[in-house]
Parts: sequence; C-alpha cells; structure tokens
Amino acid sequence: MTPRPRVVITRKIPAACEAEAAARFDAVVNRDDVPLTPEQLMEALRTADALLPTVTDKVTAQVLGTAGRRAKIVSNFGVGFNNIDIAAAKSLGITVTNTPDVLTDDTADIAMTLLLMVARRAGEGDRHVRQQAWTGWRPTHMLGARVSGKTLGLIGFGRIAKAVAQRAHHGFGMRILFADPFPPPPEVARSLGAEQRASVEEVLREADFVSLHCPATPETRHLMNAERLRLMQRHAFLINSARGDVVDEAALVAALGQGTIAGAGLDVFEREPSVTADLLGMENVVLLPHLGSATLETRTAMGMRALENLSLFFAGQPVRDRVV
Ligand code: DGY
Repeated sequence: MTPRPRVVITRKIPAACEAEAAARFDAVVNRDDVPLTPEQLMEALRTADALLPTVTDKVTAQVLGTAGRRAKIVSNFGVGFNNIDIAAAKSLGITVTNTPDVLTDDTADIAMTLLLMVARRAGEGDRHVRQQAWTGWRPTHMLGARVSGKTLGLIGFGRIAKAVAQRAHHGFGMRILFADPFPPPPEVARSLGAEQRASVEEVLREADFVSLHCPATPETRHLMNAERLRLMQRHAFLINSARGDVVDEAALVAALGQGTIAGAGLDVFEREPSVTADLLGMENVVLLPHLGSATLETRTAMGMRALENLSLFFAGQPVRDRVV
C-alpha cells in the first residue's frame, strides 16, 4: 500500500475538517495551536508532502527555500495569501492554493457589523451599560449617525465588496460607489446599485462610509495614508475588514484624534495581533480580532476547500483554487 501523503496543518481547524484530514491523509495537526516558528515551518516542509498554513503563518522565501524540501504544495487556509511569498513559490515550482468564495458572505457580514456598530456607537453603548454608567433614556443620549440611505464607498469591488454592496444597497437603501481597476460588467454593478468612480480619491471625497476590500499587495500597502484620510469627509467612517497593511495605522490614529474622520471599524491591523495602543482608548473606534470568516460554517468550508485542493493535487488533477 502506498503511504498516504503527509500533511502538516499549522493550527487546529474545525473538528469536521480534522476528521476529514485524518481520513484522507497522514495529517499532523499543531495541537498547541500557537503559531509555528520559521524553523518549525521549514521542518514541516522538509518532512511532509504538503503544508496547510493559515493566513497568520509567514511562509517566506527563506521558509520555502529550506534545503531538502519535500513538500510541493502549500494549501492556504484563507482567501488572502499575502502571508506567502508567491514569487518565491513560483520560482521554486511550489503550488499554492487558497479558499475563495466560501467566506464571502460572512466577511461581508462582518464589514456591515463594523459599519453599524461604529455608526450607532454600539461598542461604546455596550461598555456604558456594562460599566453601570447608564442613568436612563434621554433624547440627546449617545446620538450616532444614520446608516440607511447614506453613501457607501467601496475600495475594491471583488466578491466580498459586492456582497457588502448587496447588503448595503438592498438592505439599507445605501448608495454605492466603488473604485476598482478591474470593474465588473456594467449590469453587475447596476444590479447592486453601484456606480463606478475613476479613482479611490473620488470615492473618498463622496462617501459617508468607506469600506476597504482590496488585497494586500506592495501597491496597496498604506493605501489609506494621511493624505487620503484627509480626503474623507469629517463625518465619514472607515471600515477595514481586508488587511491591516492597507491602512497606515499611525496616520489613522492621527486622523481619528484630530477629527479628520468620525470613526473607524477595524477587523484587521497592521501588526496584528498587536494593536496600536492609542486605538484601544478611542470610543469612536470598533475593534474586532480578525473575525471576518469566523463562523463555524465558513471555517469548516474553508478547511474542506483547503483539503479538496490537496486531494486534487495528490490525485494528479488540476487544483481548484490555484494561486500559483
Ligand atoms: C482570509 O481568508 O483571508 C481571511 O482574512 C481569514 O479570515
């Protein structure tokens, strides 16, 4: 009997996925559930046929280039793959896959959660009640900003942004603007009530809420810098459920402190899990611990999709979600 492919899974994954992994492969799960060190990642690549990392494992050129590498595929548990040096993988002939589609709805839901929470001061209100500071209803207490009917600007208009547009336009009657170098066919934009703008800057100037949906690449690093934050309206809110590097966190802190923008809802951070200390004390900011895809349904679907890519690869068939 030919030995089953050995797969190192860098973190615990939902039980159904772990069971499926054990049924299909000689699967080794990092039971400690703490990030593997670069040395441990390299050892995994040397001793296993595949690595199944998560979006927080830094699979660098050095890690991929480990001498005596046995693994020929890295099946990422996540749609974003900025944790992997794709150019290095390509030059080494390593296949990289990701898990698109299955997390679209839940990630769109978290963007809307952030938007609603920050506009309606939900985090602040929750803290207020827990601290037993609430003295009762009054007409001027904790007034927030209306969401319904406002203008939402989307930076990037891929799958998740479109799902946000669907919710915001059809659910909340919002006007949708977007900037994306690769826009969808006009009828798709029309069905979401979305109008294209020629540049990010145009979207920033017009929107009451700006939600980021672009991938983290060298080009989008610090896309939201001090200059672009200044283009936003003073009453506008910034929502980031994409990647932390897209926002210059120091510039954001300054903009929030100076009242350049009204608030921010953040699910991702520039140096996560570390969060800029100043943000922690700001009431006009909602902070979540990278929960975009964090439902049992989606995390299970992500795991199954990552396993499916491995099964196809080891069966010698085209993988479903090839990045490179
Ligand atoms: C992804 O898949 O890229 C997400 O950020 C993880 O939820």
